Amino acid sequence: MEKSILITGGAGFIGSHVVRLFVKKYPSYRIINLDSLTYAGNLANLSDIEDEPNYHFAKVDIQDAGALERVFSEFLITDVIHLAAESHVDRSITDPLSFVKTNVFGTVNLLNAAKGFWKDLEGHLFYHISTDEVYGSLHDGGFFLETTPYDPQSPYSASKASSDHFVRAYANTYGLKTVISNCSNNYGPNQFPEKLIPLCIHNIKNEKPLPVYGKGENVRDWLYVEDHARAIDVIFHAGVINDTFNIGGFNEWKNIDIVRLLCQIMDRKLGREIGSSEKLITFVKDRAGHDLRYAIDATKIQRELGWEPSLTFEVGIEKTVDWYLGNEAWLNGVTSGDYQKYYAEHYG
Ligand code: NAD
Ligand code: TYD
Repeated sequence: MEKSILITGGAGFIGSHVVRLFVKKYPSYRIINLDSLTYAGNLANLSDIEDEPNYHFAKVDIQDAGALERVFSEFLITDVIHLAAESHVDRSITDPLSFVKTNVFGTVNLLNAAKGFWKDLEGHLFYHISTDEVYGSLHDGGFFLETTPYDPQSPYSASKASSDHFVRAYANTYGLKTVISNCSNNYGPNQFPEKLIPLCIHNIKNEKPLPVYGKGENVRDWLYVEDHARAIDVIFHAGVINDTFNIGGFNEWKNIDIVRLLCQIMDRKLGREIGSSEKLITFVKDRAGHDLRYAIDATKIQRELGWEPSLTFEVGIEKTVDWYLGNEAWLNGVTSGDYQKYYAEHYG
């Protein structure tokens, strides 16, 4: 095998798209999907590639240092693409410690496993996937650049910022070859319906209230998940070391406008009277410490590596709605059991 790449969090939303892309595009690489299968991890996301000869799965928690060492030795890992994380801001508000355990402690375990196994650090890459939320909240216009100082505001973004700092510290202190990318909000197939877009699709379908936090004025920059996976492929293969790239969609939306757009698209696709789902919009108590606006300046990756989004939001959101409507079994599966409890506790 040319490379033996450990992809953590491969059963989750973004990870599943990265695993699929690498397994299909690089048959000469061995791809090891390491995931502990939390509520957000779902092997059904990879059912189409699970029998490929270059795909392997290891059910391991990144908090377990011994298990990580065994995976590195068993599969002779040459590179890491690290996506495993607790990823939902609302959950970080109710249970910050889980975010410290996985996102900080787990990432340091993974760094140690890589450093320990790769005696000679040359030729091995530790690629850490992060978020634009580490830069904080924009209030006066402008965009996040790679040089923007970190200013995390939520327990989630604080834990991701901490993990980014540890990755850079391991590069500086031990000579580990690392790269970090910080991406804006992703949307697309396989996203767990706790995040805004799949939650609204699920609720519009079932004619349930659409909870909009505060006045719905908060702004996010949205990127189709397969474009993020493509950017990860480009960065991984670019030969860049100890560098950072921002990834974004050049696509800012106020939450309320996204929710209205989803209502219109779904009304059309479900044959309902256009505008009828908008009556489901319900303004609810704002998220604690809710970041006002995120906006990425993605010109560095465009200029230096030639990456740019391939889909417009109009196309991407139609594809996304079609996927959720066409994958009822997936949606029913992930919204049964514990999801009902989470939903009741969070939204009442
Ligand atoms: P997700 O919640 O859908 O998936 C996370 C995956 O990690 C799941 O499969 C889960 O089982 C696994 N996992 C969680 N804790 C683990 C542990 N202790 N050990 C092993 N596996 C564990 O997340 P996502 O939205 O796909 O995000 C993936 C990565 O991308 C995260 O690092 C996140 O911070 C980052 N990111 C996400 C977005 C976004 O919009 N979703 C944007 C930018 C960056
Ligand atoms: P989310 O999808 O949780 O991503 P993030 O918090 O990482 O940006 O939320 C996107 C935006 O939508 C954010 O401003 C919070 C808001 N939001 C709602 O208004 N209602 C909801 O039910 C959810 C989940 C989010």
